[in-house]
Amino acid sequence: METTCLLIKPDGVAEAHVGEIVARIEEEGFTIRGIRLVRLGRPKAEAFYAIHRGRPFFEGLIEYMTSGPIVAIALEREDAVEHLRHMIGATDPTDAEEGTIRAMFGKDIGANTVHGSDSVENGIREVLFFFPKEELVELGVSAGG
Ligand code: RTP
Ligand code: MG
Repeated sequence: METTCLLIKPDGVAEAHVGEIVARIEEEGFTIRGIRLVRLGRPKAEAFYAIHRGRPFFEGLIEYMTSGPIVAIALEREDAVEHLRHMIGATDPTDAEEGTIRAMFGKDIGANTVHGSDSVENGIREVLFFFPKEELVELGVSAGG
């Protein structure tokens, strides 16, 4: 079983889309192994998006991700990473396929409602970023993470 990390970004939480997003991921066969409401401080936000440091959009991304609470969700499913990315849709909501979460709720490339891990390795890393390992014993992350 594969692990991935879903974040509901500040716009998704502020506009009360948490319930609908969680309902959709459950309907798609994901199992929730952890769920937390978190207000990210700047150091944690910068660490989470460290791969984008130096990009022109980095500062805006960090300001945005620290602007309000987010929901971090540890998910498990077969082919979890690819399946969640498909449900989320393209980074820019105006390019996102109809029916995807970003097409439904996203406002622009910054306030695009959700994040999904982009690889199996990052799925494990990101889940462990938000959840203490001992709380995730059933995830099977210990071998890889
Ligand atoms: P995410 O990591 O949040 O799931 O989004 P993603 O994989 O679809 O896109 P990624 O390239 O990883 O970018 C991370 C977040 O940075 C913001 N962004 N802004 N203005 C821009 O050109 C730009 N490019 C990226 C987006 O909010 C994106 O979700
Ligand atoms: Mg990404």
